[in-house]
Amino acid sequence: MTFRTLDDLDVKGKRVLVRADLNVPVAGGKVTDDTRIVRQAPTIRELADKGAKVVILSHFDRPKGKVVPSMSLQVLVEPLQKTIGRHIAFADDCIGPKAQAAVAALKDGEILLLENTRFHKGEEDNDPAMARDLAALGDIFVNDAFSAAHRAHASTEGVARLLPNAAGRSMQAELTHLQKALGNPERPLMAVVGGAKVSTKIELLQNLVKRVETLVIGGAMANTFLAAEGVGVGKSLYEPDHLETARQVIRMANDAGAVILLPKDVVVAKEFKAGAAHHTVPATAIAADEMALDVGPDSIKAFENRLLTTRTLVWNGPFGAFETEPFDQGTVQAAQLVASRTRAGQLLSVAGGGDTVAALAHAGVEGDFTYVSTAGGAFLEWLEGKALPGVEALSTK
Ligand code: 3PG
Ligand code: MG
Repeated sequence: MTFRTLDDLDVKGKRVLVRADLNVPVAGGKVTDDTRIVRQAPTIRELADKGAKVVILSHFDRPKGKVVPSMSLQVLVEPLQKTIGRHIAFADDCIGPKAQAAVAALKDGEILLLENTRFHKGEEDNDPAMARDLAALGDIFVNDAFSAAHRAHASTEGVARLLPNAAGRSMQAELTHLQKALGNPERPLMAVVGGAKVSTKIELLQNLVKRVETLVIGGAMANTFLAAEGVGVGKSLYEPDHLETARQVIRMANDAGAVILLPKDVVVAKEFKAGAAHHTVPATAIAADEMALDVGPDSIKAFENRLLTTRTLVWNGPFGAFETEPFDQGTVQAAQLVASRTRAGQLLSVAGGGDTVAALAHAGVEGDFTYVSTAGGAFLEWLEGKALPGVEALSTK
């Protein structure tokens, strides 16, 4: 797909609506992870530097069309000012007279944050009237919120259809890397799919298995695949209702000539808790009273062997129960191998999805992947091969 960027816009003196995703974790009034703010700041700063009147739109949490004071975007003013290094004005509505007056008061180069778009029901309904009210506040629309692009909402989709539009720098980076990783990748291509449940990733597995040379299955969902192949998984977490789903993915891999890499050995314990007594067994030898909580060294070796010839890698989901030591080791080692191939210039690596980013941070390699997406749901829907409405609305084709 092709889309306009900030390079294609003449913004001086124009009112530019920027859809950001400021849906960041906040606890006790403080932002606990500012990754999204940091990633989106350059767009806001660039527009202000170019003399635009910058009007920021975002949702926050899920107030469901009502004003919920604890979900006000007011708490984001200070962190935004700090990261962007400019004064930020705030209006406590995103449409209507208050928003209009605040926008009208802006001088060139000034920045205004509008209140939570989800305080209006029209946002999630993608109500054309709400989209029109938003569009009336700007001359140009810039979407920098890839992580909200899977939502067809008034501030992501509707308004984009009513104004000249472009992707912001963060959106541009997401789309460019996702395109390189799955749209037109250098091959061989490997996907790592981990996490607890096959059932939440059926469409993702079905899409990826047709497109990759290697599909690596990790996490508890690997147990479902092992069980589907008739292996006893003891007390391991698995989904008996999805054995057939797993078998279908295996059949699809065979048809497509893709290799599925399942754990060769696993770290087992009798109970799931930090520091539990554990040992490593072949994946075919899980005792009835034990559960697999991580992959073992032979699995990592097999992963490394495939990785050596892989040119592009997409990663979503951990290999084991990485939040609970020592069952983080498989994920940490695999992530470090990917990081090292990437640093050596041998691999393009793209990761995303909530748990994944936390796992990479835990492994200390977040900065060593080619690209780490800030998106959760949007990244998953993209891996499923779905069109994202917020992205589609930017398409110039
Ligand atoms: C996210 O945090 O994934 C995005 O901001 C989207 O939020 P939502 O799942 O509430 O639509
Ligand atoms: Mg969310």
